[in-house]
Amino acid sequence: MTTVPHEPLVPDVRAHLRNLWGQVAGSWADHAAFVDARHAAVTTRMLELAAPAPGERVLELACGPGGAGLAAAARVGPAGAVVLSDVTPEMVAIAAARAAALGLPNVSARPLDLEAVDEPDGSYDVVLCRDGLQFATDPVRAVAEIVRVLRPGGRTAVAVWGSRERNPWLGLVLDALGEHIGRPTPPPGIPGPFSLGDDEELRRLLAGERLAAVTIDELPVPLRAPSFERWWAMTTALAGPLQMVLAGLDPDDLLAVQAIARRCALSYTTPDGLVLPGVALVAGARR
Ligand SMILES: C[S@@+](CC[C@H](N)C(=O)[O-])C[C@H]1O[C@@H](n2cnc3c(N)ncnc32)[C@H](O)[C@@H]1O
Repeated sequence: MTTVPHEPLVPDVRAHLRNLWGQVAGSWADHAAFVDARHAAVTTRMLELAAPAPGERVLELACGPGGAGLAAAARVGPAGAVVLSDVTPEMVAIAAARAAALGLPNVSARPLDLEAVDEPDGSYDVVLCRDGLQFATDPVRAVAEIVRVLRPGGRTAVAVWGSRERNPWLGLVLDALGEHIGRPTPPPGIPGPFSLGDDEELRRLLAGERLAAVTIDELPVPLRAPSFERWWAMTTALAGPLQMVLAGLDPDDLLAVQAIARRCALSYTTPDGLVLPGVALVAGARR
């Protein structure tokens, strides 16, 4: 029998993921207002937990178009500062443009990797990360970086998706793809949207890195769409790693994946269109 050594699917997972997010940055710019509106309750809770105050310095990690950090800007006021950051330069440019369009002089934007944050120790009062920590290839290292850049007594608020089962709004696409190609999506070892979906694991991750007073709330974040086509278009346009896999399918395979997803999604039909459930875990903690 021949033994095939296990090779990683891609040699540099972090660079690969960064590239994939860069390719969907345009869609995030197009849908930024929708994403922020959908996450309004999550953002409000993050700001309650992290409580940025006038004059404080706030860092948003994995900011995408910067919705959470932009919401914090009014709280810190002109004497404070908000730094929007993302590993993908395209996302940073989008966040910077949104801050400029809003006329927020206390907001700046720069590329930063949440697993190796190029900022001094203790340089922030608050660190925010909405829908980003679960994409870390090494979440322990990412949380250690949050702790390192927070001053003693500084606060963090992090939002991630709950488990796959509680998030059919996105899980259905991953399942349909996995069913058609005969293997799980994302593959084992590659971080995905539900990687930190277990609240007890999330609590252990945060508390294990010297964070105190860890609290975790669950918030409903359903996705409403007037039709299957609108849900499919929106969800796949924003899902960075997933989008590229779908784009690589031949047309018949893509139709087959869509047919599986359609069958499942239509079970969430209501008189107001599709309402696909979603649940976010919103965690707060103090250094
Ligand atoms: C699902 S999007 C969320 C964007 C934004 N936080 C929001 O809630 O609208 C995930 C973001 O994480 C970023 N990201 C992925 N890996 C990252 C890393 N290692 N460091 C920093 N950002 C990362 C992606 O570029 C992308 O902008």
